[in-house]
Amino acid sequence: MAVTGRGQTIVARALAGAAVSATALLVGCSDGPEIDGALVYAQRCAFCHDVEGQVGAEITAATLASRGDEETLTRYLRLAMPYEAPGTMTDAEYRATARYLLETRGLAGKAAAGSVAGRGNGTGEGR
Ligand code: HEC
Repeated sequence: MAVTGRGQTIVARALAGAAVSATALLVGCSDGPEIDGALVYAQRCAFCHDVEGQVGAEITAATLASRGDEETLTRYLRLAMPYEAPGTMTDAEYRATARYLLETRGLAGKAAAGSVAGRGNGTGEGR
């Protein structure tokens, strides 16, 4: 009896160890330096924001401007998006997506210059 119990404990520990390494591996993979913001947006965002009868608001330059600079936008996205599962992407993915949106809506640089020195409250009332 006692021997069986110990065996099970060892097996359980080995399994727990394997689960931890698998998680570390997954995190390592998704956090690489080369994140394609366009791809992330297509996979995680577009089905709500870029479809007919969309669930989320249309993401225009004005919408983005109201969210402040790249830093503030990234923070907002991490807290609020994807709407059904906020906070589930890596920091690099959030940053790449924010940058992609600013670039494709013609705001790269501008929004950043607008409120970097401000309090970054995202109201976009700076101009
Ligand atoms: C399940 C649907 C859904 C998904 C997926 C989703 N969003 Fe949203 N998004 C929404 C909704 C709904 C709102 C409005 C939320 C609110 O007002 O509280 C919103 C709001 C936003 C806003 C602010 C719009 C405004 O008017 O200020 C931005 C920017 C945004 N989403 C970007 C993203 C990005 C980037 C992703 C992918 C990482 C994403 N969303 C994924 C539904 C979604």
